[in-house]
Amino acid sequence: MRLRRNPEASKILSGHPMVFRVTEENKSQWRGRWHTLFPDAENPVYVELGTGKGQFLAEASTKYPEINWIGIERIQEPLLKAVRKGEETENANLRFIWMDAKWLDEVFEPGEIKRIYLHFSDPWPKKRHAKRRLTHHFFLKLYRKVLAPDGDLILKTDSVSLFDFSLQEFADHGWELLEKTRDLYNSPFKKENIATEYEEKFVSRGLPIHYVRVKPVRSFSQTDD
Ligand SMILES: C[S@@+](CC[C@H](N)C(=O)[O-])C[C@H]1O[C@@H](n2cnc3c(N)ncnc32)[C@H](O)[C@@H]1O
Repeated sequence: MRLRRNPEASKILSGHPMVFRVTEENKSQWRGRWHTLFPDAENPVYVELGTGKGQFLAEASTKYPEINWIGIERIQEPLLKAVRKGEETENANLRFIWMDAKWLDEVFEPGEIKRIYLHFSDPWPKKRHAKRRLTHHFFLKLYRKVLAPDGDLILKTDSVSLFDFSLQEFADHGWELLEKTRDLYNSPFKKENIATEYEEKFVSRGLPIHYVRVKPVRSFSQTDD
């Protein structure tokens, strides 16, 4: 669902204290120092890539104050909605980065992120667009770099094709399966689950939610990736 263009969004986001706008020029400005933006700088950093309108982060940052949460989103309209929701929580453990996920390894230092969430990422069903999927091995290589040694990645999607593609990419590029279900709402993993906006839509239509948690195998050779 595309949001109507908001001509004010860019201005509001650019000066907003919860938002950092990454550009070619400032890409590495906070590299290795993201944790210092938070009052509890020792806490682990969890990142949601493609945050959308921010429902997950508003709830997660409230439920887990011992984690420093960062939402990354490249489109300004949903990002502004996420920021507004974040403001309402008044949580000091929540920040946003306005950028494309393809810059992840330039913006974060190796090992700086403890967990990555991919929630209902665009499935890009056409084969010629496979490289845009956030679980394409181009992206997996970036995630491997920035994840902490004991870090992991969680994916949720309604898309069977994206899920199957992702499982294959994980298997081919040295990622170990830790948890998996093709029906999250009828699984033990539902207990800890926090629903996103897209998720609520799909669940209300009776669609099963696919869920997987993986971690990079450290002995996997980067040249194979
Ligand atoms: C289908 S929406 C899902 C939003 C939210 N995660 C949810 O579950 O409700 C996917 C979001 O990811 C963002 N996105 C897609 N590719 C991205 C990228 N390469 N970098 C940053 N954001 C991206 C899109 O702009 C969009 O807001």
